[in-house]
Amino acid sequence: MDIRQLRPSDIPHVQQTNITNLPENYFCKYYLYHALSWPQLSYVAVDVSRPKKTPYDAPKIVGYVLAKMEEDPADGIPHGHITSLSVMRTHRRLGLAEKLMRQSQRAMFETYSAKYVSLHVRVSNVAALALYRDTLGFKQGGVEEKYYADGEDAYSMRMELDYLRNEALDQESDDESTAGQDEGGEVGSAGKAGEGGAEAKKEKKRKVRVGRGLGVGELVERNESTKDTNGTS
Ligand code: ACO
Repeated sequence: MDIRQLRPSDIPHVQQTNITNLPENYFCKYYLYHALSWPQLSYVAVDVSRPKKTPYDAPKIVGYVLAKMEEDPADGIPHGHITSLSVMRTHRRLGLAEKLMRQSQRAMFETYSAKYVSLHVRVSNVAALALYRDTLGFKQGGVEEKYYADGEDAYSMRMELDYLRNEALDQESDDESTAGQDEGGEVGSAGKAGEGGAEAKKEKKRKVRVGRGLGVGELVERNESTKDTNGTS
């Protein structure tokens, strides 16, 4: 199974998967709008177990996540939104939806500095609710009455993406401690004492992200040992 970004040429096949699995369907141009505006956020799961016989064979798309960044968010906080997610019956309970969702969430955070991701789900959709709430950790917000065309209510759900920021910071400090290992340890007791003394004088520093917090943002060192006198950080 291959999970990769949605390409415009996939759209008819994604549309087919969507029509097969969900009553909420969209025009081709709506998929294209997602793929062209936020190309990093939508993914497809392609069954590559049976190799293509000719270069013209269509990819066998068995799942997709269609996602976007919320334009002009009402709360002013940059966040992503899951427009649609589905997996073909033949390929369910293999972890594909979870992988598609995680991939999209990571891209929202890394590419667009999204603070959280939101979605709507039918109140009767037991499988999707279990996926969002129990597996991924979405929190259930309010009920939006008659959200769907057939009159069914929707749960509005959201998930904070700060865990990705923490993961990135942990990764940075892991890399840093591994890098130091090549420089050799203390030599003899003199070396130990000398290094220990220098260590004691060293200021305690911690890496924090600054600026817009983009995935490619700079890391700076903040001095943790000096007191913040003006109350700001
Ligand atoms: N019943 C209970 N829990 C379920 C079910 C189910 N039928 N399906 C998934 N889960 C939960 C389980 O906790 C599962 O973990 P486990 O298999 O280790 O127990 C976890 O979700 C992860 O499951 P995945 O294998 O990643 O999910 P899958 O690939 O099967 O896809 C999906 C789940 C997308 C809900 C699928 O059933 C589907 O396509 N349904 C029809 C379309 C749909 O409802 N889409 C969501 C609409 S909401 C929206 O689009 C924003």
